[in-house]
Amino acid sequence: MSLEVYLNKGIKYVIEEFQEIEQILNEYGIGCGKCGEGLCLLKDVVEIHNVDEDVEVELMGRISNVIYPGKKIEFPKRKRKIQGQKEIKYSPPMKKMVDEHVLIMRWLALIPTVIENLDLESEDGLKLINEGLDFIRNYADKYHHAKEEDETFKYFNENLDIIKVIKNDHVKVRNHVRAMLQAINEKDKKTLADHLKAYSEILPEHIKKEDEILYPWMDRNLSTSQVGQLYSKFDEIDIEYGDAPERHRTFIENLESKFC
Ligand SMILES: [Fe+2]
Ligand SMILES: [Fe+2]
Repeated sequence: MSLEVYLNKGIKYVIEEFQEIEQILNEYGIGCGKCGEGLCLLKDVVEIHNVDEDVEVELMGRISNVIYPGKKIEFPKRKRKIQGQKEIKYSPPMKKMVDEHVLIMRWLALIPTVIENLDLESEDGLKLINEGLDFIRNYADKYHHAKEEDETFKYFNENLDIIKVIKNDHVKVRNHVRAMLQAINEKDKKTLADHLKAYSEILPEHIKKEDEILYPWMDRNLSTSQVGQLYSKFDEIDIEYGDAPERHRTFIENLESKFC
């Protein structure tokens, strides 16, 4: 098959055909094998993961060796807007979302203890789980995802795989939330625990994808004036939500002092 065909193939299918490539990508910290979708094209993988130029030559050389053993086939180098940078420097709006992830991660760390202490009978038990669901729905979903889906993603073609992967995760999370609400109503502790656990397992990888891949990629593709627009839209969202984010932060802090 020609080089062009492989370059335009989803990485999942390339890995299916040449399993060694998954291991090679892993060595460069690129976890396409574990990605829920794996639909990014082989030619876009280095761009999406912002691989350094010298690393790109080495990585693509190894991949070409697997696909065309013994032949000297060179992959075309991607065009770069800026030199690959090691340390991620976020624009102010992206930094804001990265900071929100920190609070969400603190909540995720509390979930195993919340599950151990699940109680759908007592007033205190119900208060805890309802506040937890309030955090999930209003902070992690509405407040944070309003910035992602309703604002940031709008600057991009939402049919791009990189955005589709992230939006699919949001859908999965919302399905778990719906199931959790139903389980609370039906006082079904086991189902609630199962969905809480599944929810808490999706998000760490999701947040990592956003922090390390999606947000830096968006930053590389947004103009300075778009970054400015986003920042003022985020300010408007913050005003709209008033003291709610602070209340959610207090909920997490109280829970940490109760359980940790
Ligand atoms: Fe997200
Ligand atoms: Fe996020």
